[in-house]
Amino acid sequence: MAKTIIISNRLPVQLQINNGSISAIPSVGGLATGMKSVHSGSESLWIGWSGLTDEDTPPELEDDIDKALKENGCAKVKLNAQEVDGFYFGFSNRTIWPLFHYFLKYSEFELDFWNTYKAVNQKFADAIIEQSDEDDTIWVHDYQLMLVPQMVREKRPNTSIGFFLHIPFPSYEIFRTLPWREEILEGLLGSDLIGFHTYDYERHFLSSVRRLLGMEVSFNEIFMDNRVIKVDSFPMGIDYKKFRDAALVQGERKKDNRSDLQQRLDDHKASAPDTKLILSIDRLDYSKGIAKRINAFEYFLNKYPEYKEKVRLIILAVPSRSNVPQYQLLKKEIDELVGRINGELSTVNWTPIWYFYRSLPFENLIDLYTSSDIAWLTPLRDGMNLVAKEYIATRTDKSGVLILSEMAGSAYEMNEALLINPNNFEQQADTLRQAITMPLEEQQSRNTFLQKRLERYNVEVWANEFMSALNQKKTAGHAYISQ
Ligand code: ADP
Ligand code: G6P
Repeated sequence: MAKTIIISNRLPVQLQINNGSISAIPSVGGLATGMKSVHSGSESLWIGWSGLTDEDTPPELEDDIDKALKENGCAKVKLNAQEVDGFYFGFSNRTIWPLFHYFLKYSEFELDFWNTYKAVNQKFADAIIEQSDEDDTIWVHDYQLMLVPQMVREKRPNTSIGFFLHIPFPSYEIFRTLPWREEILEGLLGSDLIGFHTYDYERHFLSSVRRLLGMEVSFNEIFMDNRVIKVDSFPMGIDYKKFRDAALVQGERKKDNRSDLQQRLDDHKASAPDTKLILSIDRLDYSKGIAKRINAFEYFLNKYPEYKEKVRLIILAVPSRSNVPQYQLLKKEIDELVGRINGELSTVNWTPIWYFYRSLPFENLIDLYTSSDIAWLTPLRDGMNLVAKEYIATRTDKSGVLILSEMAGSAYEMNEALLINPNNFEQQADTLRQAITMPLEEQQSRNTFLQKRLERYNVEVWANEFMSALNQKKTAGHAYISQ
């Protein structure tokens, strides 16, 4: 039976070896958390990197690794430390990630990175060929694997190939600075269908194809010599039911069953019932605007000092890509900022910022979502931002206020949130005040609309729409133009 092959750098689980035994921990990040729901409910094989390098892996554990991955419906692409350096930390996260998030000054154009990226993309393409049949459908994910569609197409001219980009596609003026821009576009054009989160990313991509490759583009179709490629936007949803149900369960849990974190949050509420909890959750990434958010919080407390001791900012930053220098610098900057602000403003009864630098189990994430009066998410650029959607899904009594950067892809679908420009401190301070004082009825009315939309357009619907657009192309038989 034909199956779907999902392929991404990051698998839904990361393997770790402790004292000779293997454990699988869930991956963090929108791609893994979103696709996990799709994968678990369908006949699919997910191919990717296990998170271990060849050097980390004693040969006698290879079989156990394969077994652990198989239990999760996955298969591995093996990478050595040099490949991980050049492909993952290098080209993916020191060249493409900053460039596509408009951090041009962080983007490094290193030939070695590029060569390793090409070689590793070829490894992923080879793994697909090895593990799939001609009539399987291939779904390639994200910026780490942009050459894979064309590499697979060369060997499998008739296979149905879809590609989805989980990060922004930048405007032509930014993209054109990349030395290997044509090769990246040609790699993507091996697909039959290319999906983006928003119409703007789609438009930017089509404009680059037209201007850099001189190809004929009509509406959302690209005409090649012998093929037509469809490009469309599919804003990714969340597993709405999973988040709502987890919040309901959490609400019913007996007091003595509560996690330490929940206990601490409850104690906080009991001792200071008027204090509002403001939550932010992100991977520790410069695109998320965490440092700016902390500065904006200080600005808010200076502009509206009456809220001192009446608000607390919880920052959960998940460690990410810590071998990349920009991420190390950011970690240091945030540590210092939090330390300085807490040092200057804390009182005997009040610490303005609670800062956690770690990954938390799912239940604790739900504890934070359900205990916070306000979610404040201020990315400077973000392909989508699923955290915004998850927060709303957990608000089972429809209370809570979402403040969201207009630079996040999710802002396009979340008009009822309080949308802000993360660079505008004045606006952010006023919006925080608006959120703190927002009447419950207004919160509920805004969240009713948001929840309806998120429930309807959930991650399953998202995946089905992408797959049916890909299948339609296959069955309509217009993947190829007869010559
Ligand atoms: P990105 O994909 O850039 O990391 P998103 O907001 O789209 O940003 O996705 C982040 C995902 O990671 C969410 O699904 C969220 O639930 C998950 N996540 C974030 N923080 C944690 C954490 N501390 N522990 C576990 N999962 C987390
Ligand atoms: C974003 C990217 C994903 C990536 C995730 C976590 O969501 O779009 O491709 O997996 O961040 O980053 P990491 O580098 O840990 O895979």
